[in-house]
Amino acid sequence: MNTQINSCFKNSFFFLITLFFALKASAQEPIKVFILAGQSNMQGHGEMEKGEKGNLNWVVNNDKTGKYKNLRDANGEWAKRDDVYIHATDKFDSIKSGKLSAGYGAYATTIGPELEFGRVVGDQYGNKVLLIKTTWGGKSINVDFRPPSSVSDSGYVSLPSKPKDTGYYYVKMLSNIYEVLDNLHDYVPDYNGEGYEISGFAWHQGWNDRVNKEANKAYEENLVHLIKDVRSDLGTPTLPFVIATTGMKGWEDKDPRALSIMNAQLAMANYPEFKDNVSVVDTRDFYKERADSPANQFYHWNRNAESYLLIGESLGKAMVDLKAKQTASNVIQPIRNVARYDSDFLTPTPPVGWNSWNAFEKDIDENKIKQIADIMVSSGMRDAGYKFLVLDDAWMAAERNENGQLVADSIKFPNGMKAVGDYIHSKGLKYGIYECRGDLTCQNLPGSFEHEEIDMQSFADWGVDYIKLDACFAKKNGRLSSEDFDVYHKAILKTGRPMVLSISDFGSGAWAWGGKNYGELWRTSGDIFPRIQSVYRCAETSGGNGAIHPAFNGLWQFAGPDSWNDPDMLQVGNLKSITEDKVHFSLWSILAAPIMAGNDLREMSDEVKNIITAKEVLAINQDPRTHQGYRVYEKDSIEIYNKPLSDGTTAVLMLNKGEKIADITVLWEQIGLAGKQPVRDLWLEKDLGEFNESFTAKKLGKHEHLLIKVGTIGSPLVAGPTPITEDKYTVSKSGTTYLSDIYYMAKKGNAPVEDKTFHGEKIKIGRKKFSKGLGVKSNAEMMYRLNGRADRFQATVQMDRSSPKDSIGRFQVMVEEKFGGRVLFDSGKMKRGDKPVEIDIDVKDLEFILLDFSGKKVFGNWGDPKVISNK
Ligand code: GLA
Repeated sequence: MNTQINSCFKNSFFFLITLFFALKASAQEPIKVFILAGQSNMQGHGEMEKGEKGNLNWVVNNDKTGKYKNLRDANGEWAKRDDVYIHATDKFDSIKSGKLSAGYGAYATTIGPELEFGRVVGDQYGNKVLLIKTTWGGKSINVDFRPPSSVSDSGYVSLPSKPKDTGYYYVKMLSNIYEVLDNLHDYVPDYNGEGYEISGFAWHQGWNDRVNKEANKAYEENLVHLIKDVRSDLGTPTLPFVIATTGMKGWEDKDPRALSIMNAQLAMANYPEFKDNVSVVDTRDFYKERADSPANQFYHWNRNAESYLLIGESLGKAMVDLKAKQTASNVIQPIRNVARYDSDFLTPTPPVGWNSWNAFEKDIDENKIKQIADIMVSSGMRDAGYKFLVLDDAWMAAERNENGQLVADSIKFPNGMKAVGDYIHSKGLKYGIYECRGDLTCQNLPGSFEHEEIDMQSFADWGVDYIKLDACFAKKNGRLSSEDFDVYHKAILKTGRPMVLSISDFGSGAWAWGGKNYGELWRTSGDIFPRIQSVYRCAETSGGNGAIHPAFNGLWQFAGPDSWNDPDMLQVGNLKSITEDKVHFSLWSILAAPIMAGNDLREMSDEVKNIITAKEVLAINQDPRTHQGYRVYEKDSIEIYNKPLSDGTTAVLMLNKGEKIADITVLWEQIGLAGKQPVRDLWLEKDLGEFNESFTAKKLGKHEHLLIKVGTIGSPLVAGPTPITEDKYTVSKSGTTYLSDIYYMAKKGNAPVEDKTFHGEKIKIGRKKFSKGLGVKSNAEMMYRLNGRADRFQATVQMDRSSPKDSIGRFQVMVEEKFGGRVLFDSGKMKRGDKPVEIDIDVKDLEFILLDFSGKKVFGNWGDPKVISNK
């Protein structure tokens, strides 16, 4: 179990799970992350070697106090700190990362404030510290770094997509930060999944906001918005924020616009809302005379290294003081988690997010998606665990470009799909997109068939993290699903970007044919609709007999990290009542189903929000043991499900699907427990007391349910059920195997009746009675696993006498499933009373065959369906 747990949780915000981790990993302190952001001055232009006076070499050599001696190591080289790491992005040397030392300025030959800032916080906080430095020179906060809330109440008017667009560098800054946070194991050696705390933010910029009057005037207000937006986008409402004023000529600077910027910066500390959480360092004392400059440049602090050392030191000290104040008043920054560096899984627990289809269908555009992203943050959904924002069908233009690439619909997404991704990333969310493996999507837009590599590459270039791949028109491809998905899987690997692949195939048996070799989740059902019966039908494909032989009791044994049974996206918020919305959410939770919210978040009521963010309910879905719930009782519209959890307890769903009010009792023996056990109501988040041997949910009305947790945390794990062994669903012996003696692994339509007609009578075909067979009602598709063991398939088929007069049915045998379109046998249209047809066909080396009976409410019989194996 430990390996499962340890490999969990990439890039996520799951607070509950975080808590669980925090407890588990309490021996290891989370990494402290400080963000250093801004413009040229934060980039850093303090010369290390260049010139004579005022460079770093000179400063260290002339240092009387000994303060800087640790900047060199025993060999006289620039020293590297073992406990402070840095990741720096900017337009000059692009990404640099490693142990903190001199050389992380704008160039490898310069320093900025990071060097001394890192020393101060490194000395103070021991353990591991990471500095994320994200800077671009020559920018202003009135345009480039303009924070969304300073543009309008609803943020940017249009998504920034290129340099000079309003907010372009604000978005880039935030997405940079998240990119590093999501991949800590790449930047912090020995990162062990101990999580991180965004500990503070330091801002230092140059003079671009004084260049024009308008920018100058708006500066103070822009800065206030910057602080607020950064905090909200990082999910840290009281994040300590330190600002170093924009010094130009020290105290001599009398330029009114320079003074106005500095005064605006100094004013931040006096805002009542920023008391004890923002602090400003006046840098004018750190100005060094031009004569001491290693380079003849009057701005960028004359490129004097000492100025940058002093600025960094004072920013570091201001940060430490601010944090001490916050500690004294018990202000706590949340602790987040990231996967361990050796995580093998893209989705160690079911993916959680929002998808556009159920809310908007084709009617999506940039503005709506931006609003959704904003609400995912402001509503608390992101912090509750909603990580993916997925754009479904109809984002693309009707034509590819001249290079054969997909392009955005230019009216809906005028700034292109990369801008959408950047914005989503800047909110700490992951970017999901839709395509289809047919030549067209389900909405008749360009599909990816025969453009697999080029499309996956476009997605990677746009920063996509999650691909929903649909199946409309894919039957024309002539490829089995496994062959089709192999192409996509390889195309994704070729891009080098990890992207989750969601198999959307209307529930065509991916758990059987090996979906987990190519993707991370697969549909188990047809499309869900906003009606409770549709919700139940979809749930039944994953949790019941809707899509597999009843002996399996649902698909639970095929679920686990990167292998999720997907009964389709949520209709929570779109159903008739809160009772229905709740039962939907509980079902998806207990079935460890991917949670893709599908409501219009812009109109979400508090009640609905409380459902989809219900902490304890979501935690059941995300439990790191990853055991899918299974049904332990079903009768007269009453159902009970059980999901054994990682903490020694188990979650139980008691559901009344019927019309009559009912009491529902779960016996401890049904859920692997005994004796006296504590019970907690997961919706009320309330302990209900201890109960002996059973618990009764009283008076549950129509569609009402109770979701409880039973048992004591820390007890030995509650045992789950025993999986069905392979020999029961696989041809595994030589000689004859009747298909009615093994379990089909996937089913669509009506379940067959084994060894009887559909009505339960003895099968009679012609004059012959068959003790083995399958009685079917159209439509009925069953997939059987031959495992390459069988040589021939034989059967006798005929329409059942009970079929209506003149009705037509058709028997087909296909390779694996319908997508390949590989028909091995076709009876053609058969009428009631037509003569039996004998089948004897070659099935050598096949992994699966599909028996299909189609027609309109007609009945048929497969007599003696069997395979003969010579192996
Ligand atoms: C199919 C899928 C749906 C949705 C639509 C989009 O029906 O199953 O989830 O993606 O296509 O056209």
